[in-house]
Amino acid sequence: MTQETASLSDTPAPGANTRKVFIKTYGCQMNVYDSGRMADALAADGYAPTEVMEEADLVLLNTCHIREKAAEKVYSALGRLREHKKARAAEGKEFMIGVAGCVAQAEGEEISRREPAVDVVIGPQTYHRLPQALHKARTGERVVDTEYALEDKFEHLPDPTKVIGKPRSVTAFLTVQEGCDKFCTFCVVPYTRGSEVSRPLTRLLTEARRLVDSGVRELTLLGQNVNAWHGEDEKGRAIGLGDLLYKLAEIPGLARLRYTTSHPRDMDDRLIEAHRDLRMLMPYLHLPVQAGSDRILKAMNRRHKASEYVALIERIRSVRPDIALSGDFIVGFPGETDQDFEDTMALVREVNYAQAYSFKYSTRPGTPGADLPDHVAEDVKTERLARLQALLLEQQQAFMQSMVGKTMDLLLEKPGRMPGQLIGRSPWLQSVNVDAMSSQIGDIIQVRITAAGPNSLFAEVAEG
Ligand code: SAH
Ligand code: SF4
Ligand code: F3S
Repeated sequence: MTQETASLSDTPAPGANTRKVFIKTYGCQMNVYDSGRMADALAADGYAPTEVMEEADLVLLNTCHIREKAAEKVYSALGRLREHKKARAAEGKEFMIGVAGCVAQAEGEEISRREPAVDVVIGPQTYHRLPQALHKARTGERVVDTEYALEDKFEHLPDPTKVIGKPRSVTAFLTVQEGCDKFCTFCVVPYTRGSEVSRPLTRLLTEARRLVDSGVRELTLLGQNVNAWHGEDEKGRAIGLGDLLYKLAEIPGLARLRYTTSHPRDMDDRLIEAHRDLRMLMPYLHLPVQAGSDRILKAMNRRHKASEYVALIERIRSVRPDIALSGDFIVGFPGETDQDFEDTMALVREVNYAQAYSFKYSTRPGTPGADLPDHVAEDVKTERLARLQALLLEQQQAFMQSMVGKTMDLLLEKPGRMPGQLIGRSPWLQSVNVDAMSSQIGDIIQVRITAAGPNSLFAEVAEG
């Protein structure tokens, strides 16, 4: 497909890269991954990436619809881009605006109606058709492409490791599963990303091997419900994410594996065994619970009790005692009482998180939560969020402090702030600053943590 579009008359030869694209990514890691793949598709169509919006001939917003604020951000950004487009037009220069991602999927036509300066609206399942959409838009047509495509977009995108001029990365995301069938009553994801689809094992193994051959040492498997991934092994037997991890662990040269985001309902025995057996599987787990009250969990349609979540955490900790836990929380879900909120606080105290995200409930039109009675007042949500975040911050800082004096493996990832320094990643997903040479990027070295800042650690190379 990219070959075809590359031969269209208004496109420079592949690699010539005369046009520039600035991609702004909102939302989750799935969007980060998608932005990378869109950049690859555009590179094959003659676009070079830029970090400077003013230099760009195309600005692509890869958007998030999860909370009202996230979606509104897109429209304010579009307002600014409209002015920029006018100024560029006055100079006789092309400037195109594309909206991709979950707002594109959810709002489609409405986006170009609200903001006519937008040239292309493209959903998360159709972005392999982005080059064609831009060609069409250049003829003056406004393009909205948010159908769920019948073809598999991943099969129609350039090999991410073969894109000319792309720097080597030490860590990479690999989308293994997309969409969600869980229908938590607060959430738009089942509507913006569609139903659950798992990518087949052989394709994932091939893509993972290619990434490792290109220098990747740490792979993070992605999915809205990554642990709902399922497939078939070579013998046609049904397998799940745990089995996939065992298979990936055999790839020579790969040093580390992670996965995100998981649902407590899909943490099966095999996956827990993988945490026990695979040293390569890093001791960090993002396992959102959202709330600590059974009443609220039920109203959210999470389909488990708070005590089941705590018991699950205990099981995981019993096989991997050093595992760091991360979570997501929503305060002020409709009907949440003071007592329900106290139950959330109690659960947080019991679990003790290394890291967490917490949000005020945001009403999303079209979700069942929007129609529930007893919406919580904004000032109550604000107060609850502040209390929860204070507790989570305390736990996060205690976790960071507990690292001081520890010796650990560090995967050297990128240049640090100072010359002669590199930033690496600890097994527990922390950024660690250490004195090292840039030729060591991609190496795993032993370091001793000397100090902890609020968001990163400092280390010295450990002797021997
Ligand atoms: N699939 C993941 C989460 C995806 S969305 C899971 O099931 O856990 C990421 C986080 O955004 C959610 O975990 C939730 O905490 C938050 N979120 C989703 N919808 C929200 C809403 N309407 N209001 C506030 N926070 C929300
Ligand atoms: Fe949203 Fe729930 Fe699906 Fe997570 S599991 S994406 S919160 S519906
Ligand atoms: Fe946002 Fe879509 Fe991710 S709504 S959180 S970008 S799946």
